Order: sequence, then structure tokens, then C-alpha cells
Amino acid sequence: KIQVNIKHILNTVNEESVRTIQKGAAAAGLEKLNKGTGEGNDFLGWLDLPSRTPAHHLDEIQAVADELRNSCDYVVSIGIGGSYLGAKAVIEALSNSFDAYTPALPNNPKVLFAGQNIGEDYLYELQEFLKDKRFGIIVISKSGTTIEPAIAFRLLKEQLEAQVGKEKASKLIVAITDAKRGALRQLATEEGYKTFVIDDNVGGRFSVLTPVGLLPIAVAGFDIKKLVEGALELQHDTEKASDDNISELYAAARNALYQAGKKIEILVNYNPKLHYFGEWWKQLYGESEGKDHKGIYPAAVDFSTDLHSMGQWIQDGERTIFETVLSVDSVKHTKVIPSDEANLDGLNYIAGKRVDEVNKMAELGTRIAHVDGGVPNIRITIPELSEKYLGQLIYFFEKACGISGYILGVNPFNQPGVEDYKRNMFALLEKPGYEEATKAIQAKLGE
Ligand code: PA5
Repeated sequence: KIQVNIKHILNTVNEESVRTIQKGAAAAGLEKLNKGTGEGNDFLGWLDLPSRTPAHHLDEIQAVADELRNSCDYVVSIGIGGSYLGAKAVIEALSNSFDAYTPALPNNPKVLFAGQNIGEDYLYELQEFLKDKRFGIIVISKSGTTIEPAIAFRLLKEQLEAQVGKEKASKLIVAITDAKRGALRQLATEEGYKTFVIDDNVGGRFSVLTPVGLLPIAVAGFDIKKLVEGALELQHDTEKASDDNISELYAAARNALYQAGKKIEILVNYNPKLHYFGEWWKQLYGESEGKDHKGIYPAAVDFSTDLHSMGQWIQDGERTIFETVLSVDSVKHTKVIPSDEANLDGLNYIAGKRVDEVNKMAELGTRIAHVDGGVPNIRITIPELSEKYLGQLIYFFEKACGISGYILGVNPFNQPGVEDYKRNMFALLEKPGYEEATKAIQAKLGE
């Protein structure tokens, strides 16, 4: 199972102060989650989601995924934020690194993503790529009104209908949205799309274990039952307050460091497949905790790649950071460094070693250097990259995030700050209903 090691933060905060937070504020935070007495308690549906997900629900998701797998070579998952990053993180973690460069095989489509940006070139190039290809669409928006996925969906829906006809297109489109509200729900009903519901009480960034994440992951060919099983194990393990509750421990440790002046947490991986897991984690913690002018700033790096760029800052820059290292015990394949008689590159001293042994020494050497340089280091270990352990990791971080938000004294389940840019953008685009805001922003620009 996942393990959390806080030994290498103890040069900055002592164990007693971490355990005091764990037994006090973290346990209180956990109780607020369990009893639903904290702020944002109408968004706690994720808490027992693994145990509330019946096998037949997963079978239904799998059946829809199989239909798409049988009829498409490409499936475009359209969504942004919580309606995008969970699926992207899991698919990237489990896929072959060169998947994008190999042709789609029968009954095994590639999952592409759209609606996570407003890149005109991105959308143009995607549509050019999909010309005359067998593709389907999963459109995901809880609110059903988010502009980025709405634009992408309008374009791709039009293309799909032009390529296969309106009737067939409606069978190749699956919508995941609110049960009743929103433009996407209305559109799905009118066009007769297959739909899945995102429960009201599960917020976007906590929705990876709902059809939002599970359907694209199943379409990509990964085992969603194992993912949910892994999450369920961690749901059980982190239910009660105890010294062994790793979500409480992690939440307590990062808050102890924050209180000691460490304002930035860098999630570090030593496996390129975890890049998007870092992006998912950044959203989870950034959107949950960054409010009321408080909150640890979540950053992420990919090592050893970024040791050759950000490594300098981390080693020698301002001492306001700590690292949380995601360490994967075993890799899937074996690659041994060959011996070379001429040894012109001087590498024979590592000949015969596996590449991962070198990677592990990079990890160990970096930890020692960073800890010595004043960067505390929390280490989270998982045995391997598989559905089960990713499920554990997802639930572990979600639970810790809820606890940590309550330790910090914020509502971890809202995101009021995200609305401000939208209001200005709609005013600038002269969206109906924003007339007053349009006048105000135009006056501001004219100042
Ligand atoms: O966590 C969140 O609530 C957000 O990141 C949302 O997931 C994101 O804004 C997308 O929203 P929606 O699914 O309503 O389109």
C-alpha cells in the first residue's frame, strides 16, 4: 500500500508538532468530514464514493465504454479542470509513453482531449486530424455552461454529424453532466445522447471516481474496477482518526511546514508518466485551499528532467519551499545499461545496472542534497503504477485535501475565485445578461 514518510522534514518541524496537529486540527477536520459539520458540507459525496459505487454501475460505464471502443478509433474527451485532469492523469500514468505515435488498433481507440483550452490552432489541428477518422465524443461538464468545452463540443459535434450523419453521430456522443440543470443536459435530452450524471454533491476536482473520470479511463482500456477497489481500500484505511491514518498525517505534516514558513509545496515525481498526476494534484490542492488570502501554493516538477532547470532554484533559492516526492518502487520493464569496450563515454561504472537503479540513486542523492540545503521532504511511496495503486493515491490525496483545508480554516469545496475571470470575459464578449458589466469593463479599459 501507499506509505508516507515524514522523517526528512524533521530538521524543520519536530515530530511532536506534526503529531499535535494530527491529533488536534487534523482529527477535528476528519470529524467535520465524517459528520458533515464543516463548511462546504453539501459537497461531500466523494467521501464514500468508492463504497457507494455498486458493481452494476461500473458495468454500465464499462458497457458504454465498450460500445465506443468497438465503433471508434479515436474518442475525444471534452472537459476542463475537474472534468479533464483526473482521466488525463490516470490514462497518462498507465499508457505506453509513445502511445500517441502509434496507430489505433481495432477495438482499442486512443483517447484525445479537447475543451481544456481555447487554443484555436489546437482545435484546428484536432479537427484536421479527425477528418475521415472513426471518432466519438465524451462531453463532460457538470455545470453544462463552461465555455471552453462548449466551444470544442460545438465544433466537434458539427464535424461528427457532417462525417457520419446526425443519427449515427448521436449514438457516438456520450454526455456527462448534471441530472437536470444546464445547457448540456437540455442538449443531450433533445439529441438523445447516452448520458451519465454527476451528482450534485461531488465537486469537479473530486469527481475522477465518477463517470467523469471512469468513462474515458475505461475507453482507454484500463480497469476501472481495480481503480475503485484501490480507492475503497484507502477509504476504509482513512475513515478513523489514528496515528496510522496517512491522509491525516500528510495533512498535518504539510500544515506544520506551512506554519513554519514553507509556503510552497512542490510535488516531485521521478517517473515521466506521472506528469499529469502532478497537474491533477495541483488543481485539487490549489482550488481547494487557495482562498481568503491563505493556502500553500502547489507546484509540480518532473525529475530528473527538471533538476536541470528548476533544480537550481530548489537547491539554492528562497527557503520557502518543501517537497513531496511521489516515489514508485517498481517499474514495469527492464532495461540494463550495456557495457562498451571503448568506454569513451566513461559509463562502464554503471554497466550492468538497470536504468531504474540509476533513477533511484538520482532520487536519493537529490533528497539528501535538498534536505541538507533546507528543503524538507515528505516521501510518498507506491509499489507500482497500476489501477489499484493509482486508486489508492487518488483517494489518499482527496481525503488529505479535505482535512488540510479544514486545518487551514477554509472551505475546501468551493472555488469563488474562479468566477472573476469568467465575469470579465463574458462582459468583454458581450454575453447577453452582462450588459452592465460590459459597460463597466469598457469604461475601465478606456481610463
Ligand atoms: O473543480 C472544479 O469545480 C472545476 O475545476 C471544474 O471542474 C471546472 O471548472 C469545469 O467545470 P464544469 O464541469 O462545470 O464544466
